[in-house]
Amino acid sequence: EGNDGVVISNLLKETGLVTLDSGFMNTASCESKITYIDGDEGILRYRGYPIEQLAAQSSFLEVAYLLIHGDLPSSEELSQFTERVERHTHLHDNFKNLIGAFPTDAHPMAVLSSAVSALPGYYPESVDPFDSHAVELATVLLLAKLPTIAAYAFRQSRGQEMIGPDPSLGYVPDFLRMSFSTNGEPYEVDDALVQALNLLLILHADHEQNCSTSTVRIVGSAHANLYASVSAGIGALSGPLHGGANEAVLAMLSEIQASDDDVDTYMDRVKNKEKGVRLMGFGHRVYKNYDPRAAIVKKVADKVLARLGQSDELLDIAKRLEEIALSDDYFIQRKLYPNVDFYTGLIYKAMGFPTNMFTPLFAVGRAPGWVAQWREMMEDPTTKIGRPRQVYTGSPSRDYLGINER
Ligand code: ACO
Repeated sequence: EGNDGVVISNLLKETGLVTLDSGFMNTASCESKITYIDGDEGILRYRGYPIEQLAAQSSFLEVAYLLIHGDLPSSEELSQFTERVERHTHLHDNFKNLIGAFPTDAHPMAVLSSAVSALPGYYPESVDPFDSHAVELATVLLLAKLPTIAAYAFRQSRGQEMIGPDPSLGYVPDFLRMSFSTNGEPYEVDDALVQALNLLLILHADHEQNCSTSTVRIVGSAHANLYASVSAGIGALSGPLHGGANEAVLAMLSEIQASDDDVDTYMDRVKNKEKGVRLMGFGHRVYKNYDPRAAIVKKVADKVLARLGQSDELLDIAKRLEEIALSDDYFIQRKLYPNVDFYTGLIYKAMGFPTNMFTPLFAVGRAPGWVAQWREMMEDPTTKIGRPRQVYTGSPSRDYLGINER
């Protein structure tokens, strides 16, 4: 079974043939031990552990350790890892200038990717991809600095002074404090929000060879350092067909709410394939069943809104869209179900984050997966530079003509 791939690839080499697989619909780019997805059954596991169990019982940094190191940590390993990450959450003072140089209406994803690509300039001792100590340091620094960068970007976008970390609070609570604290006033951490954000970060932590992770791997395959690879991944994540979908879902729900059209009219536009109109937060390359993450997020959305004593008409619109879609032939035939992004934005909104912070929150959650995948690739002696072939469809050979002869 395993040899077939080798036989086929030898055959392709001998005959000079290449396979054309636009969008990599059926091409595996690597072997991986990190994340398992069964798209038909709607199953997701990190290192063998079902996502439902991790979401219910674990913490984000524990899951980060699991993804990166392969096994759940002992309590001593977890406290050492946590302590190391939390110790490095501070950013060099110049970072405030870097982030402060962005206009307040800059998208925080632009700030995030720029700031991550600036990190190796501040920590040159952590950039060598083949020095295990440097990689370990880069791992910790990236996980530690990302929430601080995201919170700085958030405050910059609101014209507020940036507030530095207080590691004693813990990773998730401190991120909320850095984001929402009003200058000078003590910030009261709401445990329910901490729990919800912890869970959302876990759900986003890895998803095998998705667009941004494949980007991280392909950049790293050229032996680019971890920061450069992750910064490229952040760029890929920003796209509305990928991580940017959480922002696009809220825009869609708000558009429906603001228009005179009802939900059915919007669905007709989707099914008629009106240009640029899709049911955002629906469909997935791998899941042809309910995305197990979406099932968890949907329950949390109800809980968080109830906890905050909020009701959101947008949540009702989302549920109505889902209800229609799940019983409509267009969606049934194409096996389109809600994906992780369908309900997350509503929770982030209830927490107080504006729409443009939704994808940065996804990036903070996905960081352990990017790191784990990059490390797995760098440690694999069979890794080759990622360099797909193409099928050329351009002009045949022709002679150059001087400018007056064209
Ligand atoms: N709304 C309406 N129709 C859809 C949708 C959708 N959300 N998604 C797919 N379709 C239709 C396509 O029009 C196509 O129809 P056809 O067979 O008649 O041509 C069919 O379903 C297959 O769609 P593809 O785009 O070929 O599927 P692909 O696997 O390439 O794309 C993707 C997957 C990008 C996620 C797609 O479903 C989509 O655009 N969804 C909306 C954006 C979104 O939610 N992205 C987040 C994904 S999860 C994540 O990245 C974290």
